[in-house]
Amino acid sequence: SDRRPLIAGNWKMNCLRDDGLALASGLASKLSGASERPECDILLCPPATLLADVVGVLGHCDIHAGGQDCHFDKSGAHTGDIAASMLADIGASHVILGHSERRADHGESSTIIRQKTIAAHNAGLTAVVCVGETEQERDLGAAIAVVCGQMDVSLPEDATAENTVIAYEPVWAIGTGRTAAVADVEEMHAAIRRKLKERFADGDAFRILYGGSVKPSNAAELLAVENVDGALVGGASLKVEDFWGIVSACK
Ligand code: G3H
Repeated sequence: SDRRPLIAGNWKMNCLRDDGLALASGLASKLSGASERPECDILLCPPATLLADVVGVLGHCDIHAGGQDCHFDKSGAHTGDIAASMLADIGASHVILGHSERRADHGESSTIIRQKTIAAHNAGLTAVVCVGETEQERDLGAAIAVVCGQMDVSLPEDATAENTVIAYEPVWAIGTGRTAAVADVEEMHAAIRRKLKERFADGDAFRILYGGSVKPSNAAELLAVENVDGALVGGASLKVEDFWGIVSACK
């Protein structure tokens, strides 16, 4: 396909300033020192406290920065929350929405995630909308139905391949060292693609990322799967060599 892969690092709640800025500048040096331009787009999603500084460190190098969440309102009485426009204002181009940790720990429903996605689009951000089944749901044979249901509600009508990326993360594969079997990844990504094509005129152009224990040693195999257009990386995004190893696995 002509979908350019996206390798996105989700730092989650990790890194103080020194480590975070060293990580961002280490990756910027890898990119500037690379003999060939990597065959993917690169996105770093640090904690909100580091986002502005990471944008500064990345400078004009071709690595994007994004938030890990935003509120659905434009502004107002939401203590502790961050508006999409605030992320855009400090140089973010993307925001992760509906990560399973937000869904589980903060009770975020697909309805809320749809509202957040609209807010992100209105602020000019690309939304990385996460979906994924729990282990119990997979064992019950409901994985595809669960993920398709999440997509139905989480994706607004204004979603396009330009302003929205899908990230499929089986919840049981996140931070566990377990990855989904290639055949299961292929089946799920094909189902997600069908869903996108049913609903959106440019459904074939959306990028669908896989996430869940992606590391340099399994990246090439996962990225070679049909309809896998990149990766959303947690743990392995916290070390320059690991993350760069995944970037380098894009062919
Ligand atoms: O957003 C990233 C995912 O939750 C994957 O995390 O690579 O540590 O399994 P992980």
